[in-house]
Amino acid sequence: MITAPVVLQHFYEPWGTARELLHCRDTEVLMSGPAGTGKSRACLQKLHLMCLANPGMRGLILRKTLVSLTSTGLVTFKEHVASEALATGILKFFGGSAKEPAAYKYGNGSTLVVGGMDNPTKIMSSEYDVIYVQEAIEISEDDWEKLLTRLRNGKLSFHQLMADTNPDAETHWLNIRCQNGKTTMLRCTHEDNPVLFNRDGSKTSAGEAYIGILDGLTGVRKQRLRHGLWVAAEGIVYEEYNPKVHLVDKFAPPESWTRWWCVDFGYTNPFVLQCWAEDPDGRLYLYREIYHSKRLVEDHARDILLQVTKVTGRVPDRKVLTAKDIRDDVRAGLREWTEPKPRGIICDHDAEDRETLSKHVGISNTAADKRKKIGIQAVQSRMKVIEDGRPRIFFMENTVVERDPELERKKLPCSTVEELATYVWEDKATKEEPVKENDHGMDTMRYMVAERDMGGRPRVRTLGGRRR
Ligand SMILES: Nc1ncnc2c1ncn2[C@@H]1O[C@H](COP(=O)(O)OP(=O)(O)O)[C@@H](O)[C@H]1O
Ligand SMILES: [Mg+2]
Repeated sequence: MITAPVVLQHFYEPWGTARELLHCRDTEVLMSGPAGTGKSRACLQKLHLMCLANPGMRGLILRKTLVSLTSTGLVTFKEHVASEALATGILKFFGGSAKEPAAYKYGNGSTLVVGGMDNPTKIMSSEYDVIYVQEAIEISEDDWEKLLTRLRNGKLSFHQLMADTNPDAETHWLNIRCQNGKTTMLRCTHEDNPVLFNRDGSKTSAGEAYIGILDGLTGVRKQRLRHGLWVAAEGIVYEEYNPKVHLVDKFAPPESWTRWWCVDFGYTNPFVLQCWAEDPDGRLYLYREIYHSKRLVEDHARDILLQVTKVTGRVPDRKVLTAKDIRDDVRAGLREWTEPKPRGIICDHDAEDRETLSKHVGISNTAADKRKKIGIQAVQSRMKVIEDGRPRIFFMENTVVERDPELERKKLPCSTVEELATYVWEDKATKEEPVKENDHGMDTMRYMVAERDMGGRPRVRTLGGRRR
């Protein structure tokens, strides 16, 4: 039990590595382990405790993108770690201003700044006593070293850059940094989390359910998220894929670039709709995607129309908005498209789903060329860096319109990019067929590349009347 003076009583029992973290004063420390071991909780508890105990202290909570931090990390902070402090008013959230970043401000003068590496200016101009990086494999070593230079506020007898992460490949810079002794690695296990395990080593009922989900994972996802191992996927289909090269910051593609939409239907499995922009040299950029399970095609149609249009007049009040309403508003001049309409919508072959999509979006679609082997080769060749030093396919950061909480809970990929690093061959020697799992974004991406690079295919029937 941790009790702060008078006003506040908070219960948190750190076990195993969580306890070690509380006592650790090393300049760089990493909580590494599988999903759900209490890594983030431990880091947040330590930060909060330090802020309470050291008036005037400055801390920073950081993730690669601010969006991902607010959607996950800060929920644990608000609901579990700092709930009493927030309720009693000794801790207040400040939403940020043009000059100042968002922050939690303590009654004793301590501050916890909240930020993303995607917008570093506001946070990097300050100094801190302690910094916590959530899911540290997402940032670069360069970012990490920049953060180290920000540690010098001097309100504590030590400085600390602490971080947590699920493992990645053994060759990841963060693992190497730990092996070289620059960063202390604390290896967390599920037994460290009292929600999942009892003291006698038996699982709680929540533990049975959660470990059951992780046991259902396959391949490298299971090795990392269930067992906490730093391992690379073997037999990766897109070996050329390198986030440093292919993953780019988000930007609005110029109006003049051609747009394409590609769709892989799914209900139990995620439905994927990718929006691609093609630059004048034929390079493809994935700039937006819907990646969501358990929704109807007509709802996806409405969601994509909401993404590409904006209200410009007095639209009628409606309880529920449908794709048809949006199209009506556009026709009535009350809404307009904010980006070019797609030159083509390329779809998986389900006739009924294609019909539904074309009816609700109001744009016809064509059936994708689904030939897998040469399709994969075409994607591989686009991924190669050519003479000008660039590949011919790119993925923007944070393309997903809305992360699917159900997929997140099951620890499955939630975007095309999240599938890429674990898309592997069934038989690593023959490289004939990829494992048919977590491949929905992979298929959709292949349809896109096939459309542009695999000419000479048989003409396909176009739903919605138009022939191409
Ligand atoms: N010592 C603890 N006492 C109570 N709840 C805990 C403890 N450690 C972790 N939890 C809870 O378990 C869940 C998973 O913890 P989290 O820190 O998000 O795991 P990780 O970051 O390792 O994936 C969270 O709801 C967290 O509040
Ligand atoms: Mg975490």
